[in-house]
Amino acid sequence: MMTTATVRVPATTANLGAGFDCIGAALSLYNEFAFTPIDTESLVIAVRGLEAARVNTDASNLAYQAFVKLYSRIDRSPPVIQLEIKLGVPLARGLGSSATAIVGGLLGANALAGNPLSLADIMQLAIEMEGHPDNVVPALIGGCRLAATAASGWAIADIPWHDSVVPVVAIPDFELSTAEARSVLPTDYSRADAIFNTAHLGLMVRGLETGNPEWLSAALADRLHQPYRQQLIPGYTDVERAVVAAGGYGMVISGAGPTLLALTTAERADAVATAMTDAWATHNIQAQAQPLPVDMQGAVCS
Ligand code: HSE
Repeated sequence: MMTTATVRVPATTANLGAGFDCIGAALSLYNEFAFTPIDTESLVIAVRGLEAARVNTDASNLAYQAFVKLYSRIDRSPPVIQLEIKLGVPLARGLGSSATAIVGGLLGANALAGNPLSLADIMQLAIEMEGHPDNVVPALIGGCRLAATAASGWAIADIPWHDSVVPVVAIPDFELSTAEARSVLPTDYSRADAIFNTAHLGLMVRGLETGNPEWLSAALADRLHQPYRQQLIPGYTDVERAVVAAGGYGMVISGAGPTLLALTTAERADAVATAMTDAWATHNIQAQAQPLPVDMQGAVCS
């Protein structure tokens, strides 16, 4: 009998402003990856859903690369598989679509191989593949997570997210590659900028934990990446103004962008979403905006 390992992985929003490359939260939007060993000689990959035609269906497919990586880590040859991918997370928009593929591939391979690796091992492998932890960690275990290097690998802390704080994402109709969004960043920063981000990351963590409106309204500022990336996102300043005018706490770039993420209350979430799409429309940019609750479960393998 053919066994299929199916993995559902949530989208993620990385950075949350001042937490560049170290904090991220899972969002309730999903990609699904189903791995079935088959008796033919070559790999079969089928993709459906959002922007499916743009995903590679050969061995360069990222979920397949992650699948192979796990087998190589355990010194075994991967089986020939059929991989069926169902996409709900838009590509290259700053919502962690690559992280879903990495986590999906690693978990699918681990399941088919009889679970030789622990969750901690898989997390280390996922961070290694992605190069930074802020998408893959929440994609794997859900919630809002802070990752810091430690002597033994990575220390991962859960950041409590107060029920009253609602994320609203506005996803525009244009893409921005992470490589491009990273290429505009400086390599050195001043002491003043380091202090600014340290203080704002602390404030953001406490704001998320308590739902304190005053802290949240001040917490979303950043000096490590957003000032440099804003130029790649037309309409950024107008969308940010619209969020605040609609009663949101503020706005950040989701991951490397171009999706923008506002934080607000449940009562104001729909008004904030509308304000974001309207502001972008004045720049001739179509965007889809919606409140998207934090996913607390992470990747699920069945
Ligand atoms: N922390 C990363 C960045 C997330 O902002 O470049 C993108 O994958």
